Amino acid sequence: MSFLLSILFFVGLICSSLSFKVLLYNTGSSKSHIQFGGALVNTLVDRGHVVDLLIMSWNPNVNSNGTYLARNIYRINLNEESPWTRMDHLVDSMRPQTVSFSHPIYEETRQEFCKTLLNQSDFIERLKIEQYDVGISSLYDHCGLGLFYLLGIRSTMGFFPTPMMDWTGWELGLPMAPSYISDLLCDQT
Ligand SMILES: *[C@@H]1O[C@H](CO)[C@@H](O)[C@H](O)[C@H]1NC(C)=O
Ligand SMILES: *[C@@H]1O[C@H](CO)[C@@H](O)[C@H](O)[C@H]1NC(C)=O
Repeated sequence: MSFLLSILFFVGLICSSLSFKVLLYNTGSSKSHIQFGGALVNTLVDRGHVVDLLIMSWNPNVNSNGTYLARNIYRINLNEESPWTRMDHLVDSMRPQTVSFSHPIYEETRQEFCKTLLNQSDFIERLKIEQYDVGISSLYDHCGLGLFYLLGIRSTMGFFPTPMMDWTGWELGLPMAPSYISDLLCDQT
C-alpha cells in the first residue's frame, strides 16, 4: 500500500513539475470568445503553466482580456477601422442575417488582421525567442496556426468556444457530431 502511495506521490510530483510555456491565440470577435480564451488561460496558469495571450482585436469595443493571469497580453489592432464592425449582427442585431465562413466581411477581417500580424516582423522575432512549448489557437481563423508554424511551435491545439464549425471538420477529416446541425455560422443552403 505504501509502495503504491509512493508511486502516486512521485507521479504527482512529476506531473506537477511539468510546466509548459504556452502561447494562446484568440480571435476577439466578441466578449464571450475573450472570456472563453481567458478561462483557458486561467486553468493553465492554475496548473502551473506560463501563458502569453495574443488577442486579435476584431471587435474594438471588446477591451476585456478575459484573464488577469496571463504573463503577457498582446493585442493586434488595424491602423484603419476593423472590417468586423460592419457585420450585420454588430450594425443591427435585429436584422435577419446569415453569417458564413465565406462571408466577404468575415474573409476580409481574417485577411486584414493576419496580414497586419505577420507584417510585424519585430514582434514575430520577439515571440520566436520565447520558444513556446505549446500553441493553442482559436479556430475561428487560421492565422494562429500559421503563426505557430513561423514560430516553430511543434505542439499545437485548436479550440472553439462554440460547437466545432463544419469547415474544421471538413479540413481535418473529422466527423461532425450529429447532435447539432443548426450551425449559425454556416450557410443554411
Ligand atoms: C488587458 O491587458 C492589458 C495588457 O496587460 C492591460 O494593459 C489592460 O489594462 C487589460 N485590460 C483590462 C480591461 O483589464
Ligand atoms: C507592413 O509594414 C510596413 C512598415 O513596417 C508598412 O509600410 C506596410 O504598409 C505594412 N503592410 C501591411 C500589409 O500592413
